[in-house]
Amino acid sequence: MSKTKLLSRIGQKASQNPMRVDLELYYEAEENRYQPKENPSGKIAMNVAENHLCWEMLRERIQKITRENDIPEWVASYTDPAGAPTFREATAAFLSKFLTKIHLPAESLAFSGGATSVIEMTAFLLGNPGDTAVIPAPAYPVYTGDIGALPGLKRFDLQTHQELEELNSGVSITAELLQKAKEEIEESGSTFRMLILTSPDNPTGMIYSQSQLEILADWCEHNEIHLIVNEIYGLSRIDISHPDLRQDYPQPIEFVSFGKLMAERKSPWLHLWYSFSKDLGISGFRIGLLHSYHEALISGYRNAGLGHSISNYTQWVMQEVLKDEAFMESFIQKTQERLTESYLIVVNSLRENHIPYQASYGSLFVWMDLSLFLTDESEKAEQELWLEIYQEIGVLLTPANGFGHQKRGLFRMVISGVDHPTLKEAMGRIQKFCQSKKETS
Ligand SMILES: Cc1ncc(COP(=O)(O)O)c(C=O)c1O
Repeated sequence: MSKTKLLSRIGQKASQNPMRVDLELYYEAEENRYQPKENPSGKIAMNVAENHLCWEMLRERIQKITRENDIPEWVASYTDPAGAPTFREATAAFLSKFLTKIHLPAESLAFSGGATSVIEMTAFLLGNPGDTAVIPAPAYPVYTGDIGALPGLKRFDLQTHQELEELNSGVSITAELLQKAKEEIEESGSTFRMLILTSPDNPTGMIYSQSQLEILADWCEHNEIHLIVNEIYGLSRIDISHPDLRQDYPQPIEFVSFGKLMAERKSPWLHLWYSFSKDLGISGFRIGLLHSYHEALISGYRNAGLGHSISNYTQWVMQEVLKDEAFMESFIQKTQERLTESYLIVVNSLRENHIPYQASYGSLFVWMDLSLFLTDESEKAEQELWLEIYQEIGVLLTPANGFGHQKRGLFRMVISGVDHPTLKEAMGRIQKFCQSKKETS
């Protein structure tokens, strides 16, 4: 008998579906990592959304805290499963100052181990198995598993555009488009339960304007559909006023946190996700949170959330870090400066090679169009090109197949996981690859 038969239905599915298709190659690339002197022909993994831009700054701070302070009593015991009270207070103050720019009450927060866990918990508490979450494409591939594997929700990839340039003045997600999706979902026997937006977006780096968020919130509230904005990249913003970048933003959109609109409306239909994995570059700490004025949702989260809670030690360390506003201010500023430098290295090289890319407002990515090099418009050709890039030049991009977008040949590059010299090396290799492709075509 096959060993998977010993598992539940969910267990069988989980044993056969890797969380992402590029993980094996990621581990392989990391084993043979590029080093300018010791391993100049090594691989450069640029597929996993890590932010290593300012880790040394944070590490120093954390080490100082753990060296100079006794661990408080409460750390060794159970605490509120939705987050230790002092940690909730410290995070609420941090988010109010830096992200939402408006007071955010600590009682409106519920924490779990990373945004992954928060997404799963939220989907579980708001949706019934078989319900649908609508997400504008392209979007984070792992949403599918987060909302699907345990909560049993389906993902609907809403196509808002075909070509990159159509995104230049914003994501054209309209009430008409949502209405059409709603009808389609209902015809298939499911319920449109939630709309998930990511701002800044993964992979495009696009953001939603305040007026757009207002229109979408109106529509969702009117139709009794939950609107959740994932601001996991909310502080990882590019300086779009940089003289070398300005030209890419003829009609710049201003970033305004969804938290502001939520504070004005206090609606049970509006929610926000955040995590420390990206902006603070500590994906390994596993800290994510839901912000909502829906009291029953927060209570449900608390009652069902112990299995997902964050270690008290982690909460204590991070509350001490967050309390130092001056440090957080300089940390965020430094991260944004370095992120903008990384972004410039990448887009300057893409411009030289005439490779189209999406002008980004934030996130850790550049979303580029390599469709010119596809042998045909199929997923197979896209997969082959992705592998060819890895095998020929040792640069591992994120494959595009899980992003749910209709156009083939777009790839995501993570720009914050390697230092600037390594990023330049990667771009040099991509340049050579493009030139040789153009010569042979
Ligand atoms: C949009 C989005 N949501 C959630 C996550 C998962 O974050 P975490 O590490 O906090 O679970 C990621 C990670 O890449 C992401 O890009």
